[in-house]
Amino acid sequence: MKILVTGGAGFIGSNFVHYLRQNYLDYQITVVDKLNQQGNIANLDSVINDISFHKFDLIEEDKLEPIFKSGIDYVVHFAAETNVDRSIEDPDNFVNSNVLATNILLRLSRDNGVKRFHHVSTDEVFGSLELESTDKFNETTPYDPRSPYSATKAGSDHLARSYFHTYGLDVTISNCSNNYGPYQVPENIVPVFALMAMQDKSLTIYGDGLSVRDYLYVLDHCRAIDLILHKGVAGETYCVGGGEEQNGVQIADKILEILGKQPSLKKFVTDRPGHDRRYAIDYSKLSRELGYQPSVTFEEGLKQTIQWYKDNETWWKPYMEKLYVPKFMQGEEN
Ligand SMILES: NC(=O)c1ccc[n+]([C@@H]2O[C@H](COP(=O)([O-])OP(=O)(O)OC[C@H]3O[C@@H](n4cnc5c(N)ncnc54)[C@H](O)[C@@H]3O)[C@@H](O)[C@H]2O)c1
Repeated sequence: MKILVTGGAGFIGSNFVHYLRQNYLDYQITVVDKLNQQGNIANLDSVINDISFHKFDLIEEDKLEPIFKSGIDYVVHFAAETNVDRSIEDPDNFVNSNVLATNILLRLSRDNGVKRFHHVSTDEVFGSLELESTDKFNETTPYDPRSPYSATKAGSDHLARSYFHTYGLDVTISNCSNNYGPYQVPENIVPVFALMAMQDKSLTIYGDGLSVRDYLYVLDHCRAIDLILHKGVAGETYCVGGGEEQNGVQIADKILEILGKQPSLKKFVTDRPGHDRRYAIDYSKLSRELGYQPSVTFEEGLKQTIQWYKDNETWWKPYMEKLYVPKFMQGEEN
């Protein structure tokens, strides 16, 4: 099988490439990644000689087309601009990468005999739930994206679905919750808090810190994508979650406890504009139909992730020198 993994030098994409290498030894893996702030070729160091890596922007169709002409069976599409705060500052970049580039990939897949296109998306397309409610997002939840990031992901989901209905391209879609684990750059809550705490610096918590997300260990996400890619039904959408709802304060407290640091390192800062209050995900369709169950608890996943950061200082050190601070909280950072 020849598989194209877009965004394979990013956080989840690189974990998925490692997962494929371990579990599907006969697959020929091609990765296309433009290496933006989140992409890092070092994420693929240990497999680089076993894969074909191309650095370019997916919007550059003339570079992408020869890869499809060489014969691709599966596409797993991770590539996207992903940082919500960056999307508030530069929505155009998100439209180009998340919508326009996805259309190019879908069209080339349609025209070159791709057997399955798996589109990786987010639960953020569903909007926000009430903090007090027990509702969860599922595959029938209406779309209600509220940031430029989630709006562009919603656009790409609709495009992917339209290629199934209009052209008969074999498309599957997954909408997952917040991932954490190895190779996540310190622009997301778990690595930022872990690395700040390890350096005895403040953990900056947005607003009241009570906004809730579901947390999914990245290797459980890779297993879910494996199931959908190989056993999912064409045209279907699957919600993927970890079954672990946590708010910002709880995450900070757990990380401080694991590292044996003082609770006084917590610092509350201005909230993100339009910050969604709660996401929760019902993954029962994926469990029922394809046998998915998350296998890593949040506590266990956090310990493994923190250990990975402790063991990989050379990987994360460069990020600390150019730490991204969203405009809405500039002047409030450490
Ligand atoms: N991280 C999460 O918690 C999470 C949750 C839900 C869904 N997702 C989705 O999963 C996918 C992967 O997320 P991630 O956290 O690994 O993101 P990431 O930002 O770590 O990685 C994305 C990768 O895509 C590459 N990329 C972006 N635009 C590109 C383009 N136009 N051409 C070529 N390469 C491009 C980047 O260089 C980067 O390496 C995304 O589609 C995201 O929307 C992520």
